[in-house]
Amino acid sequence: MLEHIRFDAQGLSLLDQRVLPTVVEWVDCTNATDTANAIRDMVVRGAPAIGITAAYGMVLALRSGEDLQRAAQILLESRPTAVNLRWGVERMLATPTEQWETEARAIHDDDIAINKRMGEFGADALNGATNLYHHCNTGTLATGGWGTALGIARSAALRGPTHVWVGETRPYLQGARLTAYELLEDGIDCTLVADSVAGSLMARGVVDAVIVGCDRVAANGDVANKIGTLQLAILAKHYGIPVYVGMPTSTLDRECPTGAEIPIEERDASEVLGHKGVVWAANVPVHNPAFDVTPADLITGWVTEHGVWQVPFPEMATGNAPR
Ligand code: MRU
Repeated sequence: MLEHIRFDAQGLSLLDQRVLPTVVEWVDCTNATDTANAIRDMVVRGAPAIGITAAYGMVLALRSGEDLQRAAQILLESRPTAVNLRWGVERMLATPTEQWETEARAIHDDDIAINKRMGEFGADALNGATNLYHHCNTGTLATGGWGTALGIARSAALRGPTHVWVGETRPYLQGARLTAYELLEDGIDCTLVADSVAGSLMARGVVDAVIVGCDRVAANGDVANKIGTLQLAILAKHYGIPVYVGMPTSTLDRECPTGAEIPIEERDASEVLGHKGVVWAANVPVHNPAFDVTPADLITGWVTEHGVWQVPFPEMATGNAPR
């Protein structure tokens, strides 16, 4: 499995996801400020991966003698939508500092195990479906390893023929750059499409299920995920195609009643005006929300590490409860 978060006595090293797949480069962090900058600048991204990174960031804060409350604050402010960030930081703050390093490593290792369990439950739910449509990147690079929605595709591919339509995911191209890279590395059959192709694929009957991840799920099941998820779910409903959300319970925010209360990150206009120095539009106002909210009634199942959930969610302890 691709390694992208390394932690040792020297510090934290993150595989730079801004330049993958054409350049393989690592960014080093030695304190919480570096770590928060890396999260904000998308060196590392994906809800579980930033939760894990923030936990390691707290260990770096302790090692480098930073003020721990301030370190927690800057990490929490680095990206607003993914609740895993809060979950990672709060889990550290609930742990005695002598155990922080062990705890951060446990958060990382647990996430891989959780994803593998989700993969099995998700593959059961797919029940042999062959053609999956995936949005954004929810794989190893977005998690501790294996992935949530992409982990489901990985587990399904171990059971039988699986083909993934890879939505490119404008404007930041997580699908084209990162998901395609992961699937090719694993030898899983995939085809890259522009986001605008999704409807025509569904109309042609070549999509059996849509699989997506999530950045925050409200208590009523509304799902904040990468911008474009909502329109995919609406299309899927029109064509009678199931939509599964890979949801580790660390991404469920029981304190947030509905999707309307989820903060949505607005990102820089430059992401829409061009890419990597090439500018194709200028002097035009831009709206660049990083996420949208898909209402619970458009979702077929929330695939968790405990099984495939429906709303109302079971009242069991979740990843949000500090251990
Ligand atoms: O802006 P990003 O790349 O951090 O957005 C990532 C997503 O929207 C993913 O679908 C989500 O974090 C789930 S990753 C397992």
